[in-house]
Amino acid sequence: MKSIKIFAPATVANLSCGFDVLGCCLDNVGDEMIIALTSESGVKITKIDGADLPIETHKNVAGVAVEALLASYKETVGVTIEIYKKIKAGSGIGSSAASSAGAVWAVNHLLGNPFTGNELVQFAMEGEKLASGNAHADNVAPALLGGFTLVRSYAPLDIIKLHSPKDLFMTVIHPQIEVKTSDSRSVIKHKISLKKAIHQWGNVGGLVAGLFTEDYDLIGRSLEDVIIEPLRSILIPEFQNVKEVAIQKGALGAGISGSGPSIFALSKGIETATKVAKAITEVYNKTGLDFDIHISKINDQGVKIID
Ligand code: HSE
Repeated sequence: MKSIKIFAPATVANLSCGFDVLGCCLDNVGDEMIIALTSESGVKITKIDGADLPIETHKNVAGVAVEALLASYKETVGVTIEIYKKIKAGSGIGSSAASSAGAVWAVNHLLGNPFTGNELVQFAMEGEKLASGNAHADNVAPALLGGFTLVRSYAPLDIIKLHSPKDLFMTVIHPQIEVKTSDSRSVIKHKISLKKAIHQWGNVGGLVAGLFTEDYDLIGRSLEDVIIEPLRSILIPEFQNVKEVAIQKGALGAGISGSGPSIFALSKGIETATKVAKAITEVYNKTGLDFDIHISKINDQGVKIID
């Protein structure tokens, strides 16, 4: 029986301007999983530690993602999955994506890498569909490919890995309230004005250009969301204060991480990211709410083998 233990990273999707298309991968926040190939065909979840999630394969995001992979694989194999959850569901840092991306990455590795990164994203998206009713790829793509990613197109699926400047650090605050992605998607309007669309796609282009040219001011100017953030931020306690304080302390920009309630701030250098974390902590200490705070460099590799 071949088996590996992996780190399945948390991710920050949307990055303000890029709803459903932009995301980036964190380095020291994530789950662990042990994946094995077996002689018995089919996918079995054998252990879930740290979360109350369904163990039935067809109800589990990792289970359905691996089933999608095996349906495209020419030989019959069996897979067992142990999940050690560290990322809470409904946190906005890609909890479901970590499980589905981690599982398909590990199975592909154990099979000798028959599938491309784009194909793995497609399989992992089945997990996202199960979790939120929508097969978005902006968490699973950076979890699988690492760094910053852009979903250039969903049909056909076209994922672009962007350049990741070494000096960028994420500060993420996770208030301990659960916001389901499906609920957070239900507050969004499905029609927007051309004026807002122009504003937003200017920022997406600016952010991509800023990453490739390592132009930190341009990255900061582009971290702006005129479409989704005004609607969703009301679900997140102290959102405006956290954002203001982060920018005052030198963050390039700040916004909602994925569908919330986590809030991210992107900074140049770990010193600034640490100052931002301290200032945000002070804001949240006054609320009486429980929260976690993370500082992470950008993980340019994505899923990693550990031990
Ligand atoms: N793009 C998705 C959303 C990410 O904002 O709903 C969910 O983490």
